[in-house]
Amino acid sequence: MQAIVILDFGAQYSQLIARRLRALHVYCELLPFDAPQAEIEKLSPRALILSGGPNSVYDPGAPALPAYVLASGLPVLGICYGMQLIAQALHGVVHRADRREYGPATITVGGPSALFHGVPPALNVWMSHGDSVERLPDGFATLAQSPNTPFAAIGDAARRIYGVQFHPEVTHTEHGLDILRNFVYDVCGVSPNWVPANIIEESIAQVRAQTGPQGRVLCALSGGVDSAVTATLIGRAIGERLTCFFVDHGLLRQNEGDEAMALFTEHLDLNVVRVNAGERFLSKLAGVSDPERKRKIIGEEFIRVFEEEAKALGPFEFLAQGTLYPDVIESAGQGKKDAARIKSHHNVGGLPARMDFTLVEPLKRLFKDEVRAIGRTLGLPERWVNRQPFPGPGLAVRIIGPVTREATETLQAADAIVRQEIDAVPDVQRRLWQYFAVLTPVQTVGVMGDGRTYANLVAVRAVASEDGMTANWAHLPHDLLARISARIVNEVPGVNRVVYDISSKPPATIEWE
Ligand code: XMP
Repeated sequence: MQAIVILDFGAQYSQLIARRLRALHVYCELLPFDAPQAEIEKLSPRALILSGGPNSVYDPGAPALPAYVLASGLPVLGICYGMQLIAQALHGVVHRADRREYGPATITVGGPSALFHGVPPALNVWMSHGDSVERLPDGFATLAQSPNTPFAAIGDAARRIYGVQFHPEVTHTEHGLDILRNFVYDVCGVSPNWVPANIIEESIAQVRAQTGPQGRVLCALSGGVDSAVTATLIGRAIGERLTCFFVDHGLLRQNEGDEAMALFTEHLDLNVVRVNAGERFLSKLAGVSDPERKRKIIGEEFIRVFEEEAKALGPFEFLAQGTLYPDVIESAGQGKKDAARIKSHHNVGGLPARMDFTLVEPLKRLFKDEVRAIGRTLGLPERWVNRQPFPGPGLAVRIIGPVTREATETLQAADAIVRQEIDAVPDVQRRLWQYFAVLTPVQTVGVMGDGRTYANLVAVRAVASEDGMTANWAHLPHDLLARISARIVNEVPGVNRVVYDISSKPPATIEWE
C-alpha cells in the first residue's frame, strides 16, 4: 500500500492530519519526528508531511528537521512549524515573533498552483503560530498571503516542496481537505486505494503471515464493534484456527447476550463459546454498593474466566486484541515504542498482566471510523456498527446500590424502553452519544389506579458528546420524554417515578457510577 509518512513535531493537531488523509482514502502513518530513518524507509513513503509544533525553530533543543527529509527527493508538505523548518533548512529566513497569531485569518491565493487548484481565491483559514517565514528560500514562490502573514503558503513546484503556515487539517480552515487532496493526489500522485475492500484483503494476508499454517488464536468478544471486526478478520484469515469466547456476565442489556451470539455465529460465521457467568458475577457482587469495588470485582472475575477458558480451549499461541491506531500513536508518543504490550482492555476491565501470548492486532493501523467502515463491508448490521458505547462492568454501574437479579431485570426492562423510544426517532437518536436508564435505590410514593405505591425511581440519561471526555445532556423533545416515562411506569414493575438527568460532564460523569 502506498504510504504517506507524517512526522510529528508535537502539534496538537498531528493526529488530525492522519485522519484527514485517511478520509481521502490514502494510507498514512504518524511517526515521531525523531523516528529512526530505517523505520520511515520500511514504509516506502510516497511523500512526507511535517506537522506543526509548539516550538520556535530557534529554541535550544527544538525538534530539528531530519536530514533525510529534503535529501529524499520525495514531495514534502510542511505545516506551520514544518514549513518553518523547511524555510530554515533551505536558507530562507524565519522571523522570531514575540506574539502568537491564533485564530481565523483570511488568505488570498496568488497565481495558479497545484496546492490551491480549484480552491477559491480568498478563504478563511485557521492560524496558530508564533514565528513566521520572512524570506523565502531560493526556488520558492508565494502561493498565498494574509494581512499578517505575507508567506501564508509557499512552494517550489519543481522540487515538489510546499509549506502552509495555517492548518489545513482543522475544520475551521475552509477547503482544508481540498488542499490536502491536491497535495496527495496531484502533487504526490498517490491513488485513493485505502478503502475497506483493500484493507480487509491486506489484513487477512497479514494475519495469515503472522500466524503461519498452524497457529491458533484466541479472541475474547465483548459485544462491541472492535472485537467483532477483529474476530471476523481473523476468522476470514484462518477459519477454524480461531476460537472466540463471549463472557455473558449477566449485566448486559435486555436480550443482548442472545443477540450478540446470533450475530457472531449466524452473520459472522465465527466459532464462539458462550460463557454464561451471570451467577458467578452476581454472587461476587452480592451486597456491594461501592462503584469502584464493583468495577474491581467484575474486572478480576473476568480475568478468572479468561484464564479458565484459555486453558480449557487451548493451547493458543496467539491472542487477538482490538487495539486501534490512536492507542499505538499514543504509546509511541510516550516513548513506549513497544505497542505490542497488553494494555488494559477498556471493555472488560483488564486482562492478566503477564501472559504467554503473541498479540494479533489487525486493527492497529485503523481509526475507529475505518473500523466501522470495515465492519459494514464485512456484513455487520448497521445497529452493531453504530452501537453506543457500553461500559465493561455493564449494568452494574447503572444500578445504584447492590446489584441483584431483580434489580438487573428491572433496569433491563426500563433501559429497553428508553432505547426503543429514542431509536424510533432517528433525528434525535443520531445526535446522541449514549442514552440509557439508571435504577436508583430511592423509593417514592405514587398512586396507581386507586392504590398507593411505594416503588423505585428510574433516571433517564441521554447525552451528546464527541468522545465521551466531555458531554452535554441532550434536550430531548418533551413528547418523547413523556412516552418514555409513561411506558416505564406502566410496563416495569417496581418503578413508579421517572426523572430526566440534566447534568453535563463536567461536573457530572456520563455514567452515574
Ligand atoms: P464517564 O462515566 O466516566 O464515562 O463519564 C465516559 C465513557 O466511558 C464509559 N465507561 C466505561 N467503559 N469500562 C468501560 O469500558 C468502564 O468501567 C467504564 N466506565 C465508564 C462510559 O459509558 C462513557 O462512554
